[in-house]
Amino acid sequence: MPSNEAPRKIQLVRISHVYYKYTDFPKALEFIHDFGFTEEKRVSDEKIYFRGYGTEPWVLCAIKADKAEFGGVGFVVESEEDLQIASETLPKATKIYELTDAPGGGKGVTFHDPVDGYPMHLVWGQTPSAMLEIPLPHEPFNYPTEKNRPAGKFQRFQKRPAPVHKLGHFGVRTTNFAAAHEFYCKHFNFIASDLIHDKEKVDRTVFYRLDRGDEEVDHHVFFFAEGGTYRVHHSSFETHDFDTQVLGHDWLREKGYKNCWGVGRHVLGSQIFDYWYDPHGFIMEHYVDGDLVTAAEPTHRSMAGPGSLHVWGPELPSDFLTPR
Ligand SMILES: [Fe+2]
Repeated sequence: MPSNEAPRKIQLVRISHVYYKYTDFPKALEFIHDFGFTEEKRVSDEKIYFRGYGTEPWVLCAIKADKAEFGGVGFVVESEEDLQIASETLPKATKIYELTDAPGGGKGVTFHDPVDGYPMHLVWGQTPSAMLEIPLPHEPFNYPTEKNRPAGKFQRFQKRPAPVHKLGHFGVRTTNFAAAHEFYCKHFNFIASDLIHDKEKVDRTVFYRLDRGDEEVDHHVFFFAEGGTYRVHHSSFETHDFDTQVLGHDWLREKGYKNCWGVGRHVLGSQIFDYWYDPHGFIMEHYVDGDLVTAAEPTHRSMAGPGSLHVWGPELPSDFLTPR
């Protein structure tokens, strides 16, 4: 390839998993179970892979460590060539490696965010899993003037954690919005679904979806907002429906975990959200009913303001935008 020619964009297919490192492993594992993950593979007593009930072979890898730390998110790429391009062009990128102990196998490349240095992982060639067969409600909804459930058909729900289906998105606070935005748009098939600017019309927050052409994709898989120091903001996992989500909310509340924000309805992406602090202070979200878009949807721009985050639900907690 001539040196003056920019390499093609790395094609991300979907978001797939996250790594978290914990100091108090037993407490971390208890929360992971109460949040609705399913243990898939115990590599050792210090490294465990968890799955959702979807086809992703794993969605969370928990690692015991001396320091609690976000270990980075993983995206599936379209081809081995994408891994090769990543390895040759991205900051502090590794060579292509085998995911030797991960369920589903595959190959990967790890690189680091050029602004704040956090790791990101690209994977290809994993073997998908069969969906887990767990009981999930599918009853039609009764509206005041449109009754969809037959008479005598009762609803009965199970008190339990909200089973995680998949990883939906993650977000960070970046120390340099403009540099991060330029980097991710240059190297990947991200499209800004929403850009949020300040009073001076300077963009400070972005919600990216993936450009998959006509395929309908989630409104966002990755967001970042500018702030004084880097930190991972949250990882968000999709669960089945509103009842499942609120039953999961009750389960976490009754177990004594600290709620962060929710249940409420977002504006951008329109998910019903429910954010929780895990025992290490990481924010984990359950969401349902998010918007889908295709590549044809234009980028929407709006100004940051109190009404832009949610339309219903508890007041925005003061520590949500600047946690820890
Ligand atoms: Fe979220």
